[in-house]
Amino acid sequence: MNTAVVTGATSGLGREIALDLARRGWSLVLPVRTAERAQDVVAAARRLGAPAPLVVECDLSDHTAVRQMCLTVAGERRLDLVVNNAAVGGGVDPTSRETNTAGVELRMAVNAVTPHLIARELSGALTPAGRIVQVGSMGQLPLDLDDLNHERDYDGIRAYCRSKVALVMSAIELARDGVPVNVVHPAREMPTRMVSEGGFPVASTLDDGTLAVLRVALDSELAGVRGAYFHRFDRAEPHEQTADTHARARVLAWIEDRAS
Ligand SMILES: NC(=O)c1ccc[n+]([C@@H]2O[C@H](COP(=O)([O-])OP(=O)(O)OC[C@H]3O[C@@H](n4cnc5c(N)ncnc54)[C@H](OP(=O)(O)O)[C@@H]3O)[C@@H](O)[C@H]2O)c1
Repeated sequence: MNTAVVTGATSGLGREIALDLARRGWSLVLPVRTAERAQDVVAAARRLGAPAPLVVECDLSDHTAVRQMCLTVAGERRLDLVVNNAAVGGGVDPTSRETNTAGVELRMAVNAVTPHLIARELSGALTPAGRIVQVGSMGQLPLDLDDLNHERDYDGIRAYCRSKVALVMSAIELARDGVPVNVVHPAREMPTRMVSEGGFPVASTLDDGTLAVLRVALDSELAGVRGAYFHRFDRAEPHEQTADTHARARVLAWIEDRAS
């Protein structure tokens, strides 16, 4: 039986990805803030005939907890797929700068450092054909290399778009170290909490996003492809800053510092 870790499965795109895999009979591992928040998706997966998901409580903004979650998961299962889907959007009030308890800006912490850490820590638990998919976004803005923690002139949407560039940089570097990881923009403005909080009009369905993510996760034609960025179904160029080796080294050093 195939096993997948899906983060952020309590709502939005992650829930749909988890249930699509459940429908295919996959076994699920779901890192969630609290088991209570996972009750709905767990019940839905069972109704679809999947085995009882392994629910692991973990606040994904807490990198100590994330490391512990990875140890727990790697000790329990061999993994065919890891989907790092959880993320924090621009927020209800984009002028309000939030951090994790270690003082790391929240979008960089959850959307960039955590997926990097999970990919790095769980890559050893993958089966030989196993893959890691980082859910990115077409919303990408260049990082300010002198202000990676977003201390100046804060804007939550800009922080979100920068965190997604950092995510691509992380995938390029992890792939160079042999980690089978790719990044995919799923679909624009799906009907999810982060879109409604931002007041954006809905432009796609959850199915649109799920199909794009699971194609990168499962298509046999992509076996061996790593460090790539996909705009939905097409291999595409991410923001040009991701090609800047100096910028990538600075961002990766910053991420690794927070992840260690
Ligand atoms: N929606 C779009 O149109 C769109 C477009 C492009 C890319 N994306 C990407 O698609 C992915 C899914 O987005 P979505 O729109 O489905 O978002 P969403 O509905 O806001 O869901 C976010 C998920 O992440 C989880 N999460 C956030 N912070 C967490 C934390 N600290 N600890 C544990 N879990 C945490 C949430 O858990 P809780 O339920 O516990 O809060 C929730 O399950 C994201 O990577 C996003 O950037 C979305």
